Amino acid sequence: MTDHVRVGVIGVGTFGLAHLNAYLEMPGVQVTAVADADPQRAARAAEKAGGVPAFADAVDMLDADVVDAVSIVSPGTTHADFATQAAARGVAALVEKPVAVSRAEFGTLREASRLAPIVPAHILRFASPYLGLRRTVGSGQPGDVLAVHAQRHRPRDHQVLFSDVGIPLMTTIHDIDLALWLTGEVPSSVVAVAPVGENGKLGVCLSAVMELANGLSWSFSSSWLLTENERYPGDELTVVLKTGILRVRFDGSDEDVLHQALRRELSHFVDCARRGVPSEIVSLDDAFAGIALAEAITTAATTRTAVPITPEYLTS
Ligand SMILES: NC(=O)c1ccc[n+]([C@@H]2O[C@H](COP(=O)([O-])OP(=O)(O)OC[C@H]3O[C@@H](n4cnc5c(N)ncnc54)[C@H](O)[C@@H]3O)[C@@H](O)[C@H]2O)c1
Repeated sequence: MTDHVRVGVIGVGTFGLAHLNAYLEMPGVQVTAVADADPQRAARAAEKAGGVPAFADAVDMLDADVVDAVSIVSPGTTHADFATQAAARGVAALVEKPVAVSRAEFGTLREASRLAPIVPAHILRFASPYLGLRRTVGSGQPGDVLAVHAQRHRPRDHQVLFSDVGIPLMTTIHDIDLALWLTGEVPSSVVAVAPVGENGKLGVCLSAVMELANGLSWSFSSSWLLTENERYPGDELTVVLKTGILRVRFDGSDEDVLHQALRRELSHFVDCARRGVPSEIVSLDDAFAGIALAEAITTAATTRTAVPITPEYLTS
């Protein structure tokens, strides 16, 4: 690898362009290619990046030996395959959430990550308010957290745009990851109530409760129901501690979450790529546990039963 890390972006839609813009401003990084199944989008993004090669097929880009690292920002159903293919060619991958769309699909990633870093993109671990919350929670005693409550509502268009992935993996996954990261605990069972779509996915709204040892709980409320004219209510996370209540609320205009956290995340990824090491901030095991719990929400809502969570379920 030269002094500059050669970076490509796979999927230059709404969020892929945010990745691209952040890389274009980052010292030590050279954007050398983009890929998108939509050739016009690929061409526009390539132009923005200074006339770099544009690929309609991401694997052709990986085969062309023009990148050392890629952001994978294409639809969720493509993530695990592209990350595996990147690592197989020695290309480090930052993989947007969800890293895989099932526990089963995750299989190839662990093996592939021996060949090159595969870094799950859990952006909120890089956002100041959550970092502050984690410092406060971490300075307490184990067992201080009695409950975590999270609310996250997204626009109605997600019902069409992301119906193949579903709410738990697409939206609730942020809050599941925060609960895992903030508390260092894991649940023992999951119950959930939600309308189940014809494709077996939860695509409208959901309420889920996870039980931990000693009566502790996490609860999640997520929906894809906001209309265009509705004011975005903000994402809320409440941590109930023995000593008091901590609350973080974001509205859509939060500069830190939208821009600074993404820059910090990408620059951490580039550092991992340069050094050829996995992330010490968010591991594949962390991502796997989140996906397993998101999957358990769908199972609980579909079967209308409590789903037991064993340590093996969260790790293998
Ligand atoms: N971490 C976050 O907070 C956050 C925020 C937004 C989006 N995301 C993730 O980013 C991903 C993209 O979301 P988006 O809102 O930008 O979606 P989008 O639909 O705007 O963009 C997806 C892009 O991928 C392209 N694409 C589709 N199939 C492809 C393929 N096989 N190969 C290459 N490109 C392909 C599409 O043409 C499109 O340009 C999703 O997985 C989403 O979960 C994460």
